[in-house]
Parts: sequence; C-alpha cells; structure tokens
Amino acid sequence: MNKILELENLEKEVSSCFKCKLSNTRTRTVFGEGNPNAELMFIGEGPGKNEDLTGRPFVGKAGELFTRILEKGFGISRTNVYIGNIVKCRPTVDMNFEKDRPPEKDETYSCSPYILRQIEIIRPKVIVSLGNPATKFLLNTDEGITKLRGKWFDFQGIPLLPTYHPSFILRSDSETAKQEIWEDLTKVMNKLNWEIKVKIKWKN
Ligand code: URA
Repeated sequence: MNKILELENLEKEVSSCFKCKLSNTRTRTVFGEGNPNAELMFIGEGPGKNEDLTGRPFVGKAGELFTRILEKGFGISRTNVYIGNIVKCRPTVDMNFEKDRPPEKDETYSCSPYILRQIEIIRPKVIVSLGNPATKFLLNTDEGITKLRGKWFDFQGIPLLPTYHPSFILRSDSETAKQEIWEDLTKVMNKLNWEIKVKIKWKN
C-alpha cells in the first residue's frame, strides 16, 4: 500500500478513537500533516485550543512561532516536512477549555501506537522531538529536555534530536533558549545536508 493511503487509513482510525478520556472533550482529532515522504519529522506533545478547533497541528501561538523558525529562520517550508504529535486530542485542565496541559501517562500510552505507526510509514531520515512529553516518551526516559536537547539519539535506527518546544520559548522569552533551539536545528540541517537558505533569526 502506498504511504498516502496508509496515512489516510490511519487518520480515519484516529478520528474515531475513543481509547482515552481526551476523546470526551475534543472538538477534532489532530492527526498530523505534511509530506508523506518527508526526510524530517517533528513530533510535538499534543493539540492546543486552535489545533483542536481546526484539526491541524501547530497553528496556534506556539505553532506560529514554530512555523516562523522553520520558514523564516531556516527557509524550510512546512509542506516539506511532517509534523505530528504524541497525542491526537487536546489535553485541557478543566471544562472551561481555556488552558492546555501536557498529556498524562495513560493518555500518551493509549495514543502512542498512532505516532509510532506514522513514524513507521513515513520513515524520515531525522526526527526532532519538541519538548519534554515527546522526548520522554520516544526515548523512554525521565531525563528532562534541558539535559537532552541538542544531542543525537537513536530511535529505531533513525537519528533523533530533542529540542525545546516553541511554547517554552514563548513562555520564557529566554535569549539562551532561542540561541539553543537555533543551534539544535542547525545540527539537523547539517545532518540532512540541507542548505540553510535564509539566515535571518526570527523575532518573537
Ligand atoms: N503544541 C504541540 O505540541 N502540538 C501542537 O500541535 C500545537 C501545540
């Protein structure tokens, strides 16, 4: 079966998933999007408010920053990479649906077969995990992102590099963190032998 069909079938399965409690509060599932033949795959933690409403990953504030870093900072179009999340439904703190929270362990484990299958289908050359939940799950570790970021790991034969989640950059507005995410993604570009076409650092 070709990749597009496989991803479409999996997306259908995800859209009717009720394996965990996040299915009770979601508006839409957020499967992931991008090039099925992507060499580079980004994995975030889970949909936020805007993602839940639109069904698309990384389209809220953190997503806008992520897109700016990719497109303006490195000259990579979102459509050339694949963007997915560890969980496909939005984790919220309460029924007011205002605040997001990281996925809980049981939610991550119920949902994880989907992201694992996406990785298997796409088989990228490099994976970048964004933030703690994705990194901890994929590397099966309790070590935090500040220790792990910027280093290469192996995920089932695929080089994986953890870096900060863009929402951390937004929250902290730390110049050091901005510099570090820049360095991390430069390593990824070098690993893929991709030319950095635009050398402008983004502005928040
Ligand atoms: N944060 C994530 O981790 N994923 C999204 O899709 C949006 C925000």
